[in-house]
Amino acid sequence: MSQTIKPAAPDNGAARAMLYGPVADQMVEVEDLLREQMRSQFPEVDEMVRYGCLLGGKRLRPALLLLAGQAVGELSRDHIVLGAVVEMIHTATLIHDDVLDGAEMRRHLATVNSRWDNAASVLLGDFLFTHAFYLASTTDSTFACRTIGQTTNIVCEGELRQKCNRGDLSLAEDDYLQIINAKTAALVECSCQLGAHCAGGDLQTVARLARYGADLGAAFQIADDLLDVVGDPSTVGKTLGTDLEQRIATLPLIHAMTSASDSERERLEGALAAGGAIAEEALESSLARHQSIDFARAKANGFASRAREQLNGLPDSPALQVLIGLTEFVVQRSH
Ligand code: IPE
Ligand code: IPE
Ligand code: MG
Ligand code: MG
Repeated sequence: MSQTIKPAAPDNGAARAMLYGPVADQMVEVEDLLREQMRSQFPEVDEMVRYGCLLGGKRLRPALLLLAGQAVGELSRDHIVLGAVVEMIHTATLIHDDVLDGAEMRRHLATVNSRWDNAASVLLGDFLFTHAFYLASTTDSTFACRTIGQTTNIVCEGELRQKCNRGDLSLAEDDYLQIINAKTAALVECSCQLGAHCAGGDLQTVARLARYGADLGAAFQIADDLLDVVGDPSTVGKTLGTDLEQRIATLPLIHAMTSASDSERERLEGALAAGGAIAEEALESSLARHQSIDFARAKANGFASRAREQLNGLPDSPALQVLIGLTEFVVQRSH
């Protein structure tokens, strides 16, 4: 699939400032820390590290960590450090994921695997993971280190499960949900949990914010899976259609497969195995016949409203309003 790669990442600083208003200053501190940490004395490594980590991205996970903290109490230096940590882990998973997907574009730029190669991506991802764990240990919070370690394990396990299930177009919806909870929702949950914990939130409040993050993360990944089918690559800024290409069953396809008659299911499986335009056309017509896009959208909206409900009872604040707004953003986003 050939897709246009823009020469430079768009300046999304202004959009970020709007989205994350109440924590905009702390987001600048996270960005400064990322810039300070993501360096190497060796120019060839330095170029790769800066390219892979510093350009573009919505910075959703550090923003959530800061917003969850501010909604509960006071922000501290730990929030800044852990904000950088969760963004490094997220970026490491993306760099590795682009190898798995054979993707060419990420954050409006050529992926690390296409600008350098797969070996560079594997090593750069490892560099980001290990640096993130080192940085987390500078906070002296064993809870934070433990949560980050455990979460990263869950994320990797989710990616492994997805890899093992490639080509299984009869994947059950429950298995799909478990996989997205692991590969995506876990890190969003961890970001919200750590933000609230480090601001001194009581156990129940921290648990509620963690639940908010988990539901928000599930909604976010279902919306992402919809974008992979119906999105515009030049707006989303990454290679799309890779789920179909890699024969990864996501919610719209799972719904069409379970709604189809035996003969339609067989026809669809045959077309998807053939790949290319045949697969695309067959998928499009089955999705339309069973209104599977609407089904997946409704499911994403369901998770987003569950996330919204977790916030009931928190004292009103500008940070809380942004957390509420994000439950709409994640399902309506076009990038
Ligand atoms: C992309 O995450 C990977 C998924 C979990 C769907 P983002 O959409 O948050 O990626 P960036 O950081 O903004 O590039
Ligand atoms: C990957 O999900 C999520 C990760 C944890 C890396 P996707 O494969 O859907 O992410 P994109 O679409 O490539 O960003
Ligand atoms: Mg991918
Ligand atoms: Mg995707």
